[in-house]
Amino acid sequence: MSAIKKAVFPVAGLGSRFLPATKAQPKEMLPIVDKPLIQYAVEEAVAAGITEMIFITGRNKRAIEDHFDKAYELEAELEAHGKEQLLKLVRGVIPKNVNCIYIRQSEPLGLGHAVLCARPVVGNEPFAVLLADDFMDSAPGHKPVLAQMTDLYAYEKCSVLAVQDVPRAHTRQYGIVSASAYRPDLELVSGIVEKPQPEEAPSTLAVVGRYVLSGSIFEDLENIGTGAGGEIQLTDGIAALMARERVLAYRYAGQRYDCGSKLGYLKATTAMGLKHPETAEGFAEFLAELREKQG
Ligand code: UTP
Repeated sequence: MSAIKKAVFPVAGLGSRFLPATKAQPKEMLPIVDKPLIQYAVEEAVAAGITEMIFITGRNKRAIEDHFDKAYELEAELEAHGKEQLLKLVRGVIPKNVNCIYIRQSEPLGLGHAVLCARPVVGNEPFAVLLADDFMDSAPGHKPVLAQMTDLYAYEKCSVLAVQDVPRAHTRQYGIVSASAYRPDLELVSGIVEKPQPEEAPSTLAVVGRYVLSGSIFEDLENIGTGAGGEIQLTDGIAALMARERVLAYRYAGQRYDCGSKLGYLKATTAMGLKHPETAEGFAEFLAELREKQG
């Protein structure tokens, strides 16, 4: 049984890199083949044994709430037309034992602030944070990435950050850790800095959108004030937490796609289109034709 029961999904960002698609809907509702990003993230949390899903929403929250709510009219319509398969699909969006809780972040003051908004619901428990625009495709034969991390938490009993190596030129897009080898695929974090310039970055090990955090981080998030970009940064909260508690960086087994960027989104769509049972064959043929045409 997982000790982590609560997951926080910050979905209140502006999604400005995806305008105009995100003008009236959150980027987390963008679909990969046939499922919105947020549903993949919720399924990843469910696979890790999490039952309380806490969404930190903003101005464009409606679509996410509706997605995880009962759709009476749609269900009645599908039922009337005998579309059993689709009905099952719509009803199965969220398992019955899972609760969805919505908290409004009144202003997008930063990821750290969004996570802090979950404090009244999370309390002092350890919890997970998933950024749904980081789409995670776990490596064959491995559990989904968050479950890999909650398994680690069960053993190590400390905060775990998902990390991956990035090109040095990209460090200014990430929180970057300095760390020393601890166990295979696991490092002990000794420092963390938000969006450093390539020449100042302590390493090229970047934090990506999966975290298992100690509940005591809320105290730090309450106190750190604004950091890079004038926002309350989760990275700064983690830096403060590290002064008291061990934090580990985990090189997860899987592939991450940055679906907050157009190119990352297209890559994820392509990779999943080649795996989806309804599209795999036809899509592979189409890609082969396309390659041929382009010589
Ligand atoms: P991003 O840095 O990707 O920002 O946020 P963004 O606003 O969503 O997207 P761009 O850069 O304008 O295109 C990282 C994550 O933190 C959430 C976002 O929803 C995203 O999942 N976030 C960020 C909040 O919930 N609140 C904030 O105040 C800031």
